[in-house]
Amino acid sequence: MSAVIIDGVAIARKVRTEISERAQKLLAQYKVVPGLAVIIVGNDPASAVYVRNKARACAEVGINSDVMRFDATVTEAELIAQIEKLNANPAVHGILVQLPLPPTISVRRILETIAVEKDVDGFHLYNVGGLVIGDTVFPPCTPYGVQKILEHENISVEGKNVTVVGASNIVGKPMALMLMQKEATVAVCHVKTRNLAEYTILADILVVAAGKPNLIVPQMVKTGAVVIDVGINRLPDGRLCGDVEFEGVSKKASHITPVPGGVGPMTVTMLLDNTVGAAERAAKLRGPA
Ligand code: GUN
Repeated sequence: MSAVIIDGVAIARKVRTEISERAQKLLAQYKVVPGLAVIIVGNDPASAVYVRNKARACAEVGINSDVMRFDATVTEAELIAQIEKLNANPAVHGILVQLPLPPTISVRRILETIAVEKDVDGFHLYNVGGLVIGDTVFPPCTPYGVQKILEHENISVEGKNVTVVGASNIVGKPMALMLMQKEATVAVCHVKTRNLAEYTILADILVVAAGKPNLIVPQMVKTGAVVIDVGINRLPDGRLCGDVEFEGVSKKASHITPVPGGVGPMTVTMLLDNTVGAAERAAKLRGPA
């Protein structure tokens, strides 16, 4: 068996075209251009790349983005004051604080300052809590991207055994909640899980977000499973790879996402989706121009 290799770049392109059309409609109907404010603190090189990609993607679909850079010495109070200003600015529909933040700053306090209706990353406690009852305003972008990929490939999760490997606040935990909402039977594994293979082998759908190259090898995967690899790891020779041993697993799975070119392009795409969604909500509340 040879798996269908899911083309995340093509799915992202299609979804971004739809987002761009929604942005054009907002302009025509409400004279509104969606706006995203991005706050970046310090000079983490990976964060700089992510923020540059987000700003470029915004421009492509007709979202105004404003990147605000702060020195690592910025105080929590200064950041909170900046976020409060953005909360009050009607031209800003989404606010994103790039993580990680310097250890002197409380991530929790910063994220909770962002207005819920502008929390396009879906990291505010309200949005996280909303996932528990299936009523979040903005789903977090990476699990939302995985959900879109499954929908696009016509893979239903209802009644399926889904194993999520990795229990982070950003990916694993919200992913598990979103899958439960769709009536999957979900197992969540993490670094303390004993005998990981006992769980992965049961999975009709396996979502891996552990940050460990080659963690998942073919003998851990059920024949015909759908394998979604959220990992992005840099090998010593500079190449990128996921958490799944792609060559072997792709001979056993029915569908698999590659790294790069699988889930990655969808994460930024869903940020665009949430931002245009935030602008649509605000425009509808204010009425036509
Ligand atoms: N750092 C790594 N991933 C993310 C993300 O999705 N959002 C933010 N704000 N920071 C990140």
